[in-house]
Amino acid sequence: MHHFQYKGNELYAEDVALRDIVAQVGSPVYVYSQATLERHFKAFDEAFAGAPHTICYSVKANSNLAILKTIIRMGGGVDIVSGGELYRALQAGVDPKKVVYSGVGKRDDEIEYALNTGILMFNVESEQEIDRLNEIAGRLGKKAGIALRVNPDVDPQTHPYITTGLKKAKFGITMDRAVEEYKRARDMENLEILGIDCHIGSQLTKVEPFVDSIRKLKELIGELKALGINLKYLDLGGGLGIQYDAEDPPLPADYGSAIKAETKDLGLHLIFEPGRNIAGNAGVLVAKCLYTKERDEKNFIIIDAGMNDLARPALYGSFHGVQPVVKDQDGMIPADIVGPICETGDFLIKERSVPMFKQNDLMAFMSAGAYGFTMSSNYNTRPRAAEVLVNGDKFVVIREREKVEDLVRGESIPAWL
Ligand code: LLP
Repeated sequence: MHHFQYKGNELYAEDVALRDIVAQVGSPVYVYSQATLERHFKAFDEAFAGAPHTICYSVKANSNLAILKTIIRMGGGVDIVSGGELYRALQAGVDPKKVVYSGVGKRDDEIEYALNTGILMFNVESEQEIDRLNEIAGRLGKKAGIALRVNPDVDPQTHPYITTGLKKAKFGITMDRAVEEYKRARDMENLEILGIDCHIGSQLTKVEPFVDSIRKLKELIGELKALGINLKYLDLGGGLGIQYDAEDPPLPADYGSAIKAETKDLGLHLIFEPGRNIAGNAGVLVAKCLYTKERDEKNFIIIDAGMNDLARPALYGSFHGVQPVVKDQDGMIPADIVGPICETGDFLIKERSVPMFKQNDLMAFMSAGAYGFTMSSNYNTRPRAAEVLVNGDKFVVIREREKVEDLVRGESIPAWL
């Protein structure tokens, strides 16, 4: 459920007409609904009522400070994958004790920053990272809280690019190495073993893969216990899918009850790292039709947003719904909706029946709140879009549209030229 609805023939974000936002801010623009973010966070949180848990929102999905603040003030923590994300989360006021740090390639300076910040734990993704963490923590006179990210080798049945829990993926430590690595970590002076972690993939639309991986983890947790290695946290990562098109993902409540049933006897504090489930349907990308071309072979609707603004369709062939901001089109037309970028792969919609948009019509690409702005780029020297947060009948620009001057900042022409 989200708060982007028609009132009459106009599309609104909560009580603000998208047309009014574009009139003030221009296009393309990302528009987020605070009520939707809050609703999604609450639904996830309530799904785990009765089980000790922390929701560490995955910053990569949407890292705007205002979005992070919305989640943090509801009691959320964060899952980060870089020093940059830690910086953002701290700026937004996160409690360091609610920060978990995942990622296969943590640099020394990032590890130092996280240790000095006093984050809850590192989700360690390799044998070598264990040694590196111990060494750096020792040098700083700190103890690093750790969980090993294990790779349960479960197929999440999602897009191959966002499948992470298979043996062949670069993530985590394989199950067969895990016990040995826990033993090694236990004997290291500057590490404190706090938990176990897994994240098997993103946009999962079934609960079974989650349950299967918990079952595999439970065996491991039992083996560790027998060795006297007692854990406190079970971090189950993110990955719960959302509806973009006709998918029918489990509701957070169903996901919650399946997981609670599977983990209730473990006595562990659960950690979740949802990203898409919180932010995905809480945002849209609004763009304007610049030109149309009707051809015998194909119709094109050319808009002012491209793959640099919303990369998912070009990158994964992802589906995003499109809705007119004002419904006054004469029916539907089979078309590609494409951007201004000089690449054939620059499409937001390929070969679908869409409203017959005409020049200057505004349209909203739905479900763009997660992995939308955060994956945008400056390709073709295109300033990144503005971001707006709506709250009831108010809206505010939470990130200004970039200017071309911003894009050349830091560049220089050597004296010999
Ligand atoms: N935790 C870890 C360790 C992750 O790698 C991810 C996502 C998450 C949590 C959050 O997953 P979520 O709840 O959002 O599914 N760019 C792709 C998605 C990449 C996901 C990467 N990792 C897309 O646009 O679909």
